[in-house]
Amino acid sequence: MTFSPPLPYSLDIETLQDDEDETLASINASFDKILQTTHEDYGRAVRAVHAKAHAILEGSFQVAGALPRELAQGLFASPGDYRAYLRISTNPGDILDDAVALPRGVALKVIGVEGERLPGAEGRTQDFVMVNGPVFTAPDARKFARSLKMLAATTDRAESVKVAASKVLRAVNAALGTIGLESTVLAGLGGAPQVDPLGETYFSVTPFRYGEYVAKFRLRPVGMALTELAGKKVMTKGHPNAIRETVREDMAGIDAEWAFEVQLRRDANRQPIEDASVEWKEDEAPFVEVARLRVPRQDSWDADRVRAVDENMRFSVWTGLASHRPLGGINRVRRGAYQHSADFRAAANGCPMHEPAN
Ligand code: HEM
Repeated sequence: MTFSPPLPYSLDIETLQDDEDETLASINASFDKILQTTHEDYGRAVRAVHAKAHAILEGSFQVAGALPRELAQGLFASPGDYRAYLRISTNPGDILDDAVALPRGVALKVIGVEGERLPGAEGRTQDFVMVNGPVFTAPDARKFARSLKMLAATTDRAESVKVAASKVLRAVNAALGTIGLESTVLAGLGGAPQVDPLGETYFSVTPFRYGEYVAKFRLRPVGMALTELAGKKVMTKGHPNAIRETVREDMAGIDAEWAFEVQLRRDANRQPIEDASVEWKEDEAPFVEVARLRVPRQDSWDADRVRAVDENMRFSVWTGLASHRPLGGINRVRRGAYQHSADFRAAANGCPMHEPAN
């Protein structure tokens, strides 16, 4: 099969809106309600979204050698072997029973990368943040902010802190939109059967600069150990942290491998930059492997690693190389929103965020 050639990156592929500062302020105000509510609830600050972690893994990120020129860009320009962390999470800002059916996320931190940094990006790390679906239902940040605000406002009328958090969370879920969750599902804690997050495929959803080109990213399980976990049901009854327990059992006995893949942009209309609700179809723009994430068997809920990564680190699409600049309005707004949430955690917990060194 032949594909159109990849389109070049240029400054003018983004279309800035006049009201992006107001949009960010509105999102942060909504997040403040969640952050403050959950802080009171748990006695410590947690992420404004993706608060619950299921596993913290450590492994190596190996960039393939001899990639064709169009794929040998940025971090992937030359072969390499980097230490990496992976945090597996669920999207609400509240820490819920695993019986609630929700989308999953992963955050990957590649350590010790060389090259020009994004503005404000400390250290020498490259973060990738992904979820287990290819699109965001809000096409742009303004629409995301509007639904978040509307639903977050119900917090004030809620009867208890816990209910308040759940209402806001429903808003976050609806707005993040990777699911069509009805409130009754959350209320009844009785969603669809849960599956093992180790068998899922994760997407960047939004586009990024890829050196001379533009791409979306994907992390796909490869090798029997992971692929046979695809769709495997997790029994949650009586186990509020069933997913964490399942992954811990799995990871004690398997060496896990994921392919890190890039999808180069090839058609300006069919693969837009500013609308995160449009899937870039694989039959028009294929995903191709450029690196492997290898995670040897280990304790996926090791107390020291959990403290270091879950509590004292942050992951952001804006932590990384200038050659992988996040693109589009959703990504532009994410810069200030992720910083805001991490600043709240650092201040409330009295511990600054750490970027790991080599
Ligand atoms: C305007 C849109 C978005 C906003 C405002 C937003 C906001 C946030 C915030 C505040 C955090 C917590 C940061 C921290 O405390 O360290 C977070 C984490 C996360 N977000 Fe987003 N997000 C947006 C879009 C997306 C999209 C499109 C994806 C899909 C890839 C995504 C996936 C995730 C994941 C997986 C995490 C967990 C990161 C971790 O493990 O630390 N978000 N988001």
